[in-house]
Amino acid sequence: MRKVIYPGTFDPVTNGHLDVIKRATELFDSVVVTVAVNISKTPLFTNEERLDMLKESLKDFKNVKIDSFEGLVVEHAHQVGAVGIIRGLRAVSDFEYEFQMALMNRKLDSDIKTVFLMPHEKYTYLNSSLIRNLAELHADISEFVPEPVLDALKTKFK
Ligand code: COA
Repeated sequence: MRKVIYPGTFDPVTNGHLDVIKRATELFDSVVVTVAVNISKTPLFTNEERLDMLKESLKDFKNVKIDSFEGLVVEHAHQVGAVGIIRGLRAVSDFEYEFQMALMNRKLDSDIKTVFLMPHEKYTYLNSSLIRNLAELHADISEFVPEPVLDALKTKFK
């Protein structure tokens, strides 16, 4: 049983994240999508809201579970019995930060492997900050986020 975690802020989850999750489910038996709480960022959505949007958006994914964590990501991976951490690489600009994080995580715990997956190229320029900005300006973001996120953003920026 090969389990991996996919950690992130998910403020909010986008179709780019879902694309990475789908690829991970095709490679591993179980994928735990896990929300980082109490991070240095100040999210628009509360922890509960981010978890709810993930639960709703991923309800049709069979081998996916939703979780949250505080503290070190490698410790969380161990706690849930995961063999690795999934991270998405959208463009070369992601590489340096991700490479540093992967090497530091390996130094902290060499049992936990980082696996990089590339989302579809149509999501290369997508990130959650852009989505939040566009939603605040009432732009059409329906092709970038799942339905539950669209609804949550509409409520936030009525
Ligand atoms: N599609 C769309 N957007 C994507 C994406 C994809 N496939 N992959 C990443 N992004 C975007 C996110 O939306 C986010 O956008 P934003 O900054 O505009 O909000 C940005 O890329 C960063 O993504 P995220 O995956 O959420 O990473 P993060 O840098 O916010 O969080 C953690 C990374 C939580 C995994 C990391 O900080 C962590 O492990 N923290 C725990 C503490 C720890 O163990 N530290 C030691 C690590 S060395």
